[in-house]
Amino acid sequence: MVTDWNRLHILSLADFQPAEYDAVLQTAASFRDVLSRQVKKVPTLQGQVVTTMFFEPSTRTRSSFELAAKRLSADTMNFSPGTSSLSKGETIFDTAKTYWAMGSDIMVVRHGEAGVPHAIAAEMERLGAPVRVLNAGDGQHEHPSQALLDLFTICSLLDEDRPHIASLAGKKIAIVGDILHSRVARSNIWSLTAAGADVYLAAPPTLLPPEFAHLAGDRLLVGWQLEPALEKADFVMTLRLQKERMEQHLLPSLREYHQQFGLTRERLQLCQPHVKVLHPGPVNRGVEISSELMDDPDFSLISQQVTSGVAVRMALLYLIGGGKGNS
Ligand code: NCD
Repeated sequence: MVTDWNRLHILSLADFQPAEYDAVLQTAASFRDVLSRQVKKVPTLQGQVVTTMFFEPSTRTRSSFELAAKRLSADTMNFSPGTSSLSKGETIFDTAKTYWAMGSDIMVVRHGEAGVPHAIAAEMERLGAPVRVLNAGDGQHEHPSQALLDLFTICSLLDEDRPHIASLAGKKIAIVGDILHSRVARSNIWSLTAAGADVYLAAPPTLLPPEFAHLAGDRLLVGWQLEPALEKADFVMTLRLQKERMEQHLLPSLREYHQQFGLTRERLQLCQPHVKVLHPGPVNRGVEISSELMDDPDFSLISQQVTSGVAVRMALLYLIGGGKGNS
């Protein structure tokens, strides 16, 4: 188990170092082994309190963090804005302070505005509260745990016993779809390029604005067509079309989008024969990916992503929670 970890909060992957990625992968691999045992629980975070504070809807991320915390024997609390004092005018900082006063050690925060998890972490530090904060998705900014579970899923396929980032060097990964609105894409760009993969972003121009072209470099290519992105790709990551974040009409129709950018088995013929497809979920079946491809175990890693998510989130809670001696 990794003990050399200095990061208090996990808010962004922008400044993550290769050794930190490997620490997450290695720790997650140990927890994957724990999760395959008959007793899928370790006492690592016994006595600690993990609070999930989701100001935005979520199915898999919240449940995954909650289960990860329970598998580490932490106590869990859930906050939902609809049934909370936020509707009575309480501020987000006051909500966080309330949970700290109740004994929260780790807060897992999702919010529709970029920067809220960072702001809570800064406020907790200002107050001298030893609370750790994990960003579970902030606006269109970042979603570190999703990118880390994507990384673990891919690296485990390349080297099951010892998933490590160097195994990704020189692999081609296409990220296709609503990149404009995607915090998943932003976090994945950091992790995959840090791993030495060649990342190709593809979307219609309205969903991949020219600013992204400025990010392009040796490891990052940007294009407005699907075919060059798919050509000889080792992995294809497709993103949900985020209808709730589309203020303007950025697309003529969903049918047309599927015709131009929807992933199908036929289109994957441009890729490497061993190509695998990832999707963070939730999926719009028949829009960004055909229903048939989504359910095809020869290509789709979607279920593995969900399974990996629990082990990776256990690793993140363990690393920032300072747990020791759990295997
Ligand atoms: C993503 C999110 O919420 O950013 N989903 C997830 O966490 N698994 C992607 C999305 O909503 O499309």
